[in-house]
Amino acid sequence: MKLSNALGPLDGIWFNITTALPPTLKAVLRNPTLLLSPSKISQVYMSNLWMVYADGIDGNAKSDKETLITPHAHGVVLDLGAGHGHTVRYLNRERVTKYIALEPNSLMHPHIRAQANNAGYHEADGTLVILSHGAQETQAILSALALALPIELQNAPQPIDTIVSALTLCTVPDPERTVMNMVRDILKPGGQFLMYEHVLSTRPDVAWWQHFWAPLWALGFDGCRMDRASDILLRDLKLKNENGEVSAWQEASMYKEEGTEEQQFFLHAVGRFTKL
Ligand SMILES: C[S@@+](CC[C@H](N)C(=O)[O-])C[C@H]1O[C@@H](n2cnc3c(N)ncnc32)[C@H](O)[C@@H]1O
Repeated sequence: MKLSNALGPLDGIWFNITTALPPTLKAVLRNPTLLLSPSKISQVYMSNLWMVYADGIDGNAKSDKETLITPHAHGVVLDLGAGHGHTVRYLNRERVTKYIALEPNSLMHPHIRAQANNAGYHEADGTLVILSHGAQETQAILSALALALPIELQNAPQPIDTIVSALTLCTVPDPERTVMNMVRDILKPGGQFLMYEHVLSTRPDVAWWQHFWAPLWALGFDGCRMDRASDILLRDLKLKNENGEVSAWQEASMYKEEGTEEQQFFLHAVGRFTKL
């Protein structure tokens, strides 16, 4: 990789910090009690950053999301790290009965609500549920779902038909365990896991630079790791059953963007996995 391209993330890191830090500092000056809660400050920072990025990133992903989400998402959909709720734009209202947005940053919730309402999902009739849990909090999510789902699904061992993860697995803590628990405990057998994520490059030179920049990038972008192989993690996911450890999937398909030299740090993998 050319040195000029390898240094590319520096620009992005500088842009992120200079964009999101000033409004975050202003918020702290307005409300100094935020200093008692670093995680709240980090949420303010991310919400300022996502205001700038959300629409553009979604625009770039539009054709992949239309191929991945629109024809396949069905039933009760759980959107991991819903952000501003852009996933809802791709849901077919006839096929998706309920949209559950999992978003720990409550500053994003008004955006989710607005997009979901626009697409015909409402909290008042139970077709929209917004949860503040992190994806790693499987048991808390299940408890919240038990209250939010229709009576016939409340005792279903795994209540979700479709999990969507768009640009979120890069940020969740302990991704192996988080994904395993999600798929094992929350996703129905035959349900689908739809993934649109930037991933670790298969090019050793690019991967080296991704590992190099990852800690600094994560500092300026809400913990996002640019060197996470979420595609491999999902593809190789195994669950235990009476035959021992077996692939979690009955069907899996995935493709990866090619991209130019300059785009190598954030190439996306697009995958659809059907649970055994
Ligand atoms: C890069 S944004 C993507 C938003 C949205 N999925 C999209 O594609 O427009 C990542 C989102 O994950 C959320 N997030 C961070 N940590 C999380 C966690 N532990 N569990 C679930 N979501 C998390 C962030 O608050 C943020 O909204």
